[in-house]
Amino acid sequence: MKKSDALNAPFQPESFEFTDPKAVKEIIARYPEGRDHSAIMPLLDLAQRQVAVTGPFGDYPTGGGWLPRAALDEVASICGVAPIKVYEVATFYSMYNLEPVGKYLVQLCTTTPCWLCGSADVVNACTNYLDIKLGQTTDDGYFTLMEVECLGACSNAPMIQVNDDYYEDLTAESVVTILKSFQKDVVPPSGPQNGRIGSMSIAGPTTLEEQAKKAGVI
Ligand code: FES
Repeated sequence: MKKSDALNAPFQPESFEFTDPKAVKEIIARYPEGRDHSAIMPLLDLAQRQVAVTGPFGDYPTGGGWLPRAALDEVASICGVAPIKVYEVATFYSMYNLEPVGKYLVQLCTTTPCWLCGSADVVNACTNYLDIKLGQTTDDGYFTLMEVECLGACSNAPMIQVNDDYYEDLTAESVVTILKSFQKDVVPPSGPQNGRIGSMSIAGPTTLEEQAKKAGVI
């Protein structure tokens, strides 16, 4: 569904209220007086995380975070801006979900570096294993697959993001192992899945060895 269509979709709840007013105040206080609109993005993030915790609205069996239109309106009212200003932000960034998503939101990077390193295999492995297409959610509400642009971990391509964590240096096999683990509600270790440390060569450091020792990474 197009993000703009989601704002008027039938699954929209009537109202939204922040359950942690203290957290809202703390976010507003980060910015100079009169600049409340600077808080739009962190408040949207707070609202999305609240929905993930408080659960779905209506009959949706999904448990991931998303932003109902009522939440966007609430953020606009708190920040003293017209709702369209918040809609513009929420529809632009892929980090904001404007429709219900699965408990585990799997964002698959298919931009050039990931694609050159085999993201098509990773995508096919996920769609085949879960039997859904990109943009869809499994019937049990566990997984949503979302294609995204570069997530900034190109040196560890191909990679995916599941909720807040990155899984990198993937293959068709390792990504299925990760999905199987989430199916059991066990969060697998994030980061590179091929045994290397960070973005270091798998054979170990070839330069700056002294610095690596000092940093305690070898
Ligand atoms: S291209 Fe995939 S993380 Fe940058």
